[in-house]
Amino acid sequence: MALLDIVTFPDSFLKNKTDQVTNIDATTQALVDDMSETMYQAPGVGLAAIQVGINQSLLVFDVAPQDENRQLQVLINPTIVTQEGEILSEGEGCLSVPEYRADVMRARRILVEAVDRDGNPLRFEAEGFPAVVIQHEIDHLNGTLFIDHISSLKRQMYVRRIKKRLKNQ
Ligand code: NI
Repeated sequence: MALLDIVTFPDSFLKNKTDQVTNIDATTQALVDDMSETMYQAPGVGLAAIQVGINQSLLVFDVAPQDENRQLQVLINPTIVTQEGEILSEGEGCLSVPEYRADVMRARRILVEAVDRDGNPLRFEAEGFPAVVIQHEIDHLNGTLFIDHISSLKRQMYVRRIKKRLKNQ
């Protein structure tokens, strides 16, 4: 396994809509393993393939990464079938958006369809924090970052700060 480099904002690669995974092979399995290791090491609760430079509809997440009983979830070609309610995701962050957190409104409850890493179909409901994490990661697969959900004023302030930092490096 290997740690992967994480693509960060304002890299425009993160705006790509990802392609469906058509064939789950050894390369896919290796990617899942490397992404998982990268996520746990970061540490983060979710990582989409686009964040490591792979333009495919694939993500990993684990809402309890510190637990002894941590349980990796792998979603390939996931879609949100239905959603309901609202929840304030407080201080949401992203491994691709360094040094920034913001509150984001998300759906409280979602119904998700995907396939797992073995190609088996999945259909499940998620509510609360897991639902927030899945929505955040599926956004990545559509080229959307959490800062696309905040006010343009807040977003501009962050963009100015990060560009200034990059210039001073
Ligand atoms: Ni993210």
